[in-house]
Amino acid sequence: MRLKVQTSLAIISVFAIFTRISAAETICNGTELSVYDDLDIGGLTEKPCTKVFGDIVIANLNGGKRMSNYWTIEELYGSLFIVNTTNLGDSVNLQNLQTIHAAESPALVIRNNRGLRLAIGARLGHVSTGSNITYWLTDNWPAAMTESEHYTLFMASDKNRPVFYTDNHFTTRQCDGWYYKLWTFVFGTLCVMVSCALIGLSFYGRREKTKKGI
Ligand SMILES: *[C@@H]1O[C@H](CO)[C@@H](O)[C@H](O)[C@H]1NC(C)=O
Ligand SMILES: *[C@@H]1O[C@H](CO)[C@@H](O)[C@H](O)[C@H]1NC(C)=O
Ligand SMILES: *[C@@H]1O[C@H](CO)[C@@H](O)[C@H](O)[C@H]1NC(C)=O
Repeated sequence: MRLKVQTSLAIISVFAIFTRISAAETICNGTELSVYDDLDIGGLTEKPCTKVFGDIVIANLNGGKRMSNYWTIEELYGSLFIVNTTNLGDSVNLQNLQTIHAAESPALVIRNNRGLRLAIGARLGHVSTGSNITYWLTDNWPAAMTESEHYTLFMASDKNRPVFYTDNHFTTRQCDGWYYKLWTFVFGTLCVMVSCALIGLSFYGRREKTKKGI
């Protein structure tokens, strides 16, 4: 009986901590995080947004920017558009993004960017959209995302087969396990051989030294 009470108290306190954490969310409207030219940057919200309702549009920017307000976003109820930018570099960082629930546009629309390196974190786990295209990634040079980020996008989609509308030719597939096993075997064998050789050498070395010492 006592144990039960303690257990339920423990559960309640854990629950309380969790609700406290989730209460720390900051809700923003996508328009507060949208920019249509370089001058709009100053008007970006200063709030540490965690939940965003509405589309985020980042368009017509030139050069690297300080846009730290995307870092905190965890949930996006809308789409993310990044279009017509040059040399943004890694200014747009979405390391904490966990879910995207887009309405009728693709979840991501990344079009016509030069020198954009979009940072999408591995936390992204749920992506859904009412569009028949899940991700639209075209006309970016170099490719806006790495292959592993493509893989994250692939795995995050709530659909079994997300639709990529893209001109990147990444092959997103799982690694072949046997390949790594083979190399592990080769290196393992090599290590054992080298160890044996070293042990042998050290024995000989010592004997010779003692001989010389005499
Ligand atoms: C966001 O703000 C705009 C105007 O500032 C408004 O029209 C729109 O409905 C808002 N969106 C949401 C999802 O609240
Ligand atoms: C991006 O550029 C194209 C062509 O230059 C233009 O049609 C489009 O409206 C631009 N998009 C935005 C969001 O400004
Ligand atoms: C997606 O839907 C649009 C109409 O909403 C249609 O025109 C288009 O052909 C569809 N594309 C695919 C790939 O199914």
